[in-house]
Amino acid sequence: MNNHYESRRRGWRRSWSFVAATTGATIGLGNLWKFSYLAGENGGAAFVLAYLICIVVVAMPVMIAEVVLGSRGRSNPVSTMRDVSLEAGASSAWQVIGWLGCIAGLLVLSYYSVIAGWGFAYIGKLLGGEFVAASAQLSGDSFNSLLAAPELLVQWQALFLLIILLVVALGVRRGISAAARLLLPLLFIMLIALAIYSSQVGDFKAAAEFLFKPDFSALSQEALLVALGHAFFTLSIGVGAMMAYGAYVPDQRSITGMVSTVVLMDTLVSILAGLAIFPLVFSLNMAPAMGPGLMFVAMPYGFGNMIYGNYFGALFFLMVSLAAITSGVALLEPATSWLAQQFRWWRPAAAVVMIIVVWLLGLVTIFSFNIWQHIEVFGMSVFNLLDFVTANLLLPIGGVLIALFVGWKMRKEVLRDELYVESPQIFWLWRWLLRYIAAPGVLVVFLWSLYPWLKTQLV
Ligand code: PHE
Repeated sequence: MNNHYESRRRGWRRSWSFVAATTGATIGLGNLWKFSYLAGENGGAAFVLAYLICIVVVAMPVMIAEVVLGSRGRSNPVSTMRDVSLEAGASSAWQVIGWLGCIAGLLVLSYYSVIAGWGFAYIGKLLGGEFVAASAQLSGDSFNSLLAAPELLVQWQALFLLIILLVVALGVRRGISAAARLLLPLLFIMLIALAIYSSQVGDFKAAAEFLFKPDFSALSQEALLVALGHAFFTLSIGVGAMMAYGAYVPDQRSITGMVSTVVLMDTLVSILAGLAIFPLVFSLNMAPAMGPGLMFVAMPYGFGNMIYGNYFGALFFLMVSLAAITSGVALLEPATSWLAQQFRWWRPAAAVVMIIVVWLLGLVTIFSFNIWQHIEVFGMSVFNLLDFVTANLLLPIGGVLIALFVGWKMRKEVLRDELYVESPQIFWLWRWLLRYIAAPGVLVVFLWSLYPWLKTQLV
């Protein structure tokens, strides 16, 4: 009896560690920065609804599948895919899922680190009192002056990369989970407080209508692809990160239950961030579609006009930076563990090599905001192109391959073995969504959204 109780307790605690670490990997800039500006650019509530549908019927089943792969393979994404395809009697070409994931992760990290650097810079700006009683104009000018200074951007990006290098090199998984457990409640409290504050000083009604009252005519074909891509991005799927975290999934716990908890928290944080940002945007007459600067212009204005706003603001951007760190770690981990295991390298050395690659790639993003500002490829800035290709193409492609492999190639008994705690109905529903909705769904969205775009590019 006593033993039974003990093992249950341990299981419970470990399952929280998994949920905390995974939530840390999923909640990040995607929720606090990207969700709002994408919703702003793509027509608000109709986009939010499309995004939520993509989360539930496509991204969540794929996320469970990726965790299952990790839990089965228990290695880096490339070796995991080699082993599970061997077990399934499938072609070793499925390893491409691992490769694609490592490459996509590094590419995402290259611009993710730049934006995280903005977060660091803003901690200093707020503490220095730059926004006291600021106008919206001043807030906008401050953001533009940061973007115009490549040397500053490089410094902040390097600091961010250095921090995640330390975390990944030391392999402090426990630390991440502990940090996430402390951070998450704080983040929730802070976002709720901010949403209440902005609803009082800002235009809450306009914000709520914009986020929750869909106008489907505002949803372009491309917006649907952006919603799908963001569902993958925000849940950190398709880069092998969930495989890495899945390797630590505790026994006797429901994977679908744990993943649902993570998805719920991730979604709540995005919506709360939207409710903190948009009331200010509307009361200031800012354009919701202003792009990546939305949070960095609206929030400092809000803090500047709040009592003790400097300190709250600095705390807010500290939380943004910490959330970005726990996600950055998840982006770096797959490629680093592959390099270390494949060539039997010392893990810190592998991490250093990967960070140098990412740092160099990141310069492209940095310059696209200033000295290469005028360069456009396919009508997009270099940063937008990188974001589009990774979030809207590479991650969903990785997701489709995972859905096809786990849905059609892995034996049912093997899957049942990993998901033996789930009820037969949930297991059936998950596999059905994976087979008949997730994979075909992504392909349909690709065709629907990319066809008109391709046509305009080709003529
Ligand atoms: N989900 C993270 C965020 O929302 C970004 C991320 C993507 C992290 C892919 C890991 C892998 O910020």
